[in-house]
Amino acid sequence: MMGPAAGPEPSAGPNRWPRSGELNTYLGIDIGGSGIKGAPVDTATGRLTAERIHIATPVPARPEAVAEVVATISQHFGGDHHIGCTFPGVVMRGVIRTAANLDPAWVGLDAHALLGHATHRSVTVLNDADAAGIAEMAFGAGRQRCGVVLMVTLGTGIGTALFLDGRLVPNTEFGHLEVRGKDAERRAAARVRDERHLTWKRWAGRVDEYLGRLEALCNPELIIIGGGVSARAERFLPLLHPGCPVIAAQLQNEAGIVGAALHVRDAVEAAARPRPSPGRPVARRPAAGARRPRLY
Ligand code: BGC
Repeated sequence: MMGPAAGPEPSAGPNRWPRSGELNTYLGIDIGGSGIKGAPVDTATGRLTAERIHIATPVPARPEAVAEVVATISQHFGGDHHIGCTFPGVVMRGVIRTAANLDPAWVGLDAHALLGHATHRSVTVLNDADAAGIAEMAFGAGRQRCGVVLMVTLGTGIGTALFLDGRLVPNTEFGHLEVRGKDAERRAAARVRDERHLTWKRWAGRVDEYLGRLEALCNPELIIIGGGVSARAERFLPLLHPGCPVIAAQLQNEAGIVGAALHVRDAVEAAARPRPSPGRPVARRPAAGARRPRLY
């Protein structure tokens, strides 16, 4: 089971959610600090139906420039797919609230509207780690896992996605937890290992300390490590001392694309479901003599 992150809403237009041409196929686009990648996804299987394309993120990554790249990717694949997009920051109902590793001009912007107008498609936007988590829970390392599962993506920054019985709590942002007086992502993101030329052992020590803090705060039953570095999990997972199982993500570079496609698919399906007719809610009085329910 999976819930759409932070209530996706379609972008503008009179017929806002026409059904996608090819049933189950949606375009997933993963917007990152260094690259923007996209591919159509068969959301029934989680497989990409065409080879993904990758375009360098414009510098500076201003909204109009990024929107142009998103439109180019959409045109490249053609068709009339609805589009799910990830964003490396907090996204609430399509509005960008933070952009720690992208241009600050994004903050406060309605990304559903911007990307919808740029592509002439219906677009939903969600946090990148939430998207990766949704994909892993559906088709990867978190498949059929109940209880509290925490996905941690180690890349340019640190992203997190928290699930309870497969349902997402969106925008958790645990990458900004303070560790040794610093934002955790400034100590333990994969980028820090590259930039500071840290050995695997030294970097794994930082990751270990960070995961220990996360465990103490949310007591997950499983931690899934994602991001590009998860492809080299054998170099650092054995160096960790976790209190719960810690495993590598399985979808790796495709997780964001697949999760974004699942997100827009869920929005389309939610919009197609009949809504209860508006009217006054019927207040039910307890029958005379009925006992009050206990609330605690
Ligand atoms: C952002 C998160 C994002 C993560 C990974 C952090 O800096 O605040 O929203 O998920 O980077 O891109």
